Amino acid sequence: MAKFEVNGRNVQNRGPDDAPLLWVLRDELGLTGTKFGCGVGQCGACTVHVDGQAIRSCLTPVSAIDGMKVTTIEGLGAGGVHPVQAAWVEAQAPQCGYCQSGQIMQAAALLSANPNPTDAEIEAAMDGNLCRCMAYLRIRKAVKLAARKGARSGPARKAELRS
Ligand code: FES
Ligand code: FES
Repeated sequence: MAKFEVNGRNVQNRGPDDAPLLWVLRDELGLTGTKFGCGVGQCGACTVHVDGQAIRSCLTPVSAIDGMKVTTIEGLGAGGVHPVQAAWVEAQAPQCGYCQSGQIMQAAALLSANPNPTDAEIEAAMDGNLCRCMAYLRIRKAVKLAARKGARSGPARKAELRS
């Protein structure tokens, strides 16, 4: 029975060990910010962080994350607005919004590991996150804006949206 942390909260999975993390997040914990897209690791809509790494939660059985720390879009800003989220708002990146939590989680993991990525590095990191609205130019702009604003520097900036 896997035990792990989600956004700072201890969780014990009571369902099957092979249940995808995505189902537990959405159906058991009510964290519906993480989206179901393809279910086969091809779209990135379900991206969350496990121990700081961006992973596809649709493909990750809860047994694989025993003892690990999960962060979802709801926990990214630790109660405030994460700089990547603030950059997304400033760049007006979303259209329908369905893919965007996955895009933001992917970008946040990239910028945490590499605060000043080149265009090629952004392209490589974001390549697996699909957007059916084709908002790719605004998404890339938002990633660069987040990098310029120092997205690695910390999670919560409650005043960011008002600046
Ligand atoms: S739903 Fe997980 S990658 Fe598409
Ligand atoms: S904004 Fe609609 S799928 Fe990306």
